[in-house]
Amino acid sequence: MLSSVTIVIALLLSCAQGAPQQSDNVLPAEAFSPLVAQKVLATAQQIQSPPRYPQWTDRNAGTWQYFSPDTWTTGFFPATLYALNDRKTLCKTKDATLANTNWLGLAQTWSAAEIPLEVKTGVGHDVGFLSFPFAEELELNKNNQTAIDAVNKFATALAARYSPIVGCTRSWDAADPTDFQVIIDNMMNLEVLFVSYEYTKNETLREIAISHANKTMVNHLRPDGSSFHVVDYNSTTGKVFRQRTSQGFADNSTWSRGQAWGIYGFANMYKRTQIFDYLKTARHMADYFLDNMPTNGIVPWDFNAPVASRPADSSAAMIAATGLLLLAQQELKSAPPNLSNYYHWLNGASSLINKMTELAWRPSWQSLLANGTVNNPAQNNLTGIVYGDYYFIRAANEMVRMGAVSC
Ligand SMILES: *[C@@H]1O[C@H](CO)[C@@H](O)[C@H](O)[C@H]1NC(C)=O
Ligand SMILES: *[C@@H]1O[C@H](CO)[C@@H](O)[C@H](O)[C@H]1NC(C)=O
Ligand SMILES: *[C@@H]1O[C@H](CO)[C@@H](O)[C@H](O)[C@H]1NC(C)=O
Ligand SMILES: *[C@@H]1O[C@H](CO)[C@@H](O)[C@H](O)[C@H]1NC(C)=O
Ligand SMILES: *[C@@H]1O[C@H](CO)[C@@H](O)[C@H](O)[C@H]1NC(C)=O
Ligand SMILES: *[C@@H]1O[C@H](CO)[C@@H](O)[C@H](O)[C@H]1NC(C)=O
Ligand SMILES: *[C@@H]1O[C@H](CO)[C@@H](O)[C@H](O)[C@H]1NC(C)=O
Ligand SMILES: *[C@@H]1O[C@H](CO)[C@@H](O)[C@H](O)[C@H]1NC(C)=O
Repeated sequence: MLSSVTIVIALLLSCAQGAPQQSDNVLPAEAFSPLVAQKVLATAQQIQSPPRYPQWTDRNAGTWQYFSPDTWTTGFFPATLYALNDRKTLCKTKDATLANTNWLGLAQTWSAAEIPLEVKTGVGHDVGFLSFPFAEELELNKNNQTAIDAVNKFATALAARYSPIVGCTRSWDAADPTDFQVIIDNMMNLEVLFVSYEYTKNETLREIAISHANKTMVNHLRPDGSSFHVVDYNSTTGKVFRQRTSQGFADNSTWSRGQAWGIYGFANMYKRTQIFDYLKTARHMADYFLDNMPTNGIVPWDFNAPVASRPADSSAAMIAATGLLLLAQQELKSAPPNLSNYYHWLNGASSLINKMTELAWRPSWQSLLANGTVNNPAQNNLTGIVYGDYYFIRAANEMVRMGAVSC
């Protein structure tokens, strides 16, 4: 969190340097619409029995489709409830639903069904995503033993997927065990290792995260800052034998959501370690994302897919926006603070949110946003997506916290 003093100093210095002004960073009214709290509350009140979690909507009516707790996206809905709890504190607002709802209670209720997953989970490396609600709980209640246990068990499960020969944690399990597959998304899962480290002081967890990030920097990134979705390592030799896509257009193309996970993941690695190469990598990936945006401002599912046949991905836009804001925050903490970059990323985030809200805000749907692409090769596109909505809320919260917008 930035102190208001830092922001004032930042603003003064930026005027002196001719950097973009704060007034560039407006958000659309929809970002703080009463519909945000109303829709999320309506979904939260429909507790599913047995427990099931929203992941994406159908493409016609925008109705949530529910999945078993043992799904990689389960943590996002409870995390959304924590994000609205956060917003309730950040926004002294006349929004009655936001102000009068016990978001924390709902978040805890919706986290409960994740607990058995600590013991046995089918989500593999995605334990990091599942841990998000517990990490949020610990931000509020440092000593909540249930949440501490959950985070430690998820971290242990991820650490068990680490190979010292490869230097990474394994993402997907292949039929051939020597085919060790690592996806760029995995950068998001490293955070749980740091959260657990805070409690256990187990250095191995930090070392695993750093090794994984170092390997990803070398083998997932291309010289222009774009990224491969999947890298296949040979688990016996540790050597890369394939760099390719799974959800993107082609092996040599850039799947926008993967690029967005990378921006966030490397900015977070810098936040956690202060290793400068991570800041450079996050900047490089962010530059690629912003420099390759089409002129209409709509984030395509894949930057290199033919223009005529590429649906948008609003979730990639919102993940990238939140990643750019995290990166902007790190620019102020780097030595010396990099103010022109700070405003550049802030403006980039604001522009992504504005353009994509204009396209994808859908009042009649259960989700906040439409135009998400879950998996285009699997023909799952034009839907609402739970993590698109989550990062839409998170990004606006962060901009309030940074003093860039008011609610
Ligand atoms: C501790 O966290 C768990 C998991 O999020 C939650 O269910 C529980 O209500 C919390 N306990 C307290 C005392 O806040
Ligand atoms: C630290 O974490 C690693 C990975 O989970 C584990 O193998 C090791 O036993 C832990 N060390 C201690 C002292 O708990
Ligand atoms: C990995 O390398 C070993 C040893 O060279 C080889 O037997 C195995 O087939 C390789 N696996 C893959 C998936 O290429
Ligand atoms: C990771 O990379 C950083 C900086 O590039 C380097 O200082 C560090 O030694 C590397 N660590 C490992 C485990 O590869
Ligand atoms: C990917 O490879 C194909 C075939 O060689 C080529 O036509 C295309 O331009 C390449 N795309 C990118 C983004 O490099
Ligand atoms: C956005 O979604 C609507 C339907 O919900 C669709 O008609 C439109 O073509 C989509 N636009 C893009 C750019 O994907
Ligand atoms: C800010 O970072 C950019 C690279 O992203 C660099 O070119 C510039 O010199 C940096 N400015 C300061 C003040 O460090
Ligand atoms: C989106 O998915 C539909 C099937 O649900 C598929 O027919 C279509 O080709 C996909 N759109 C694009 C642009 O690939």
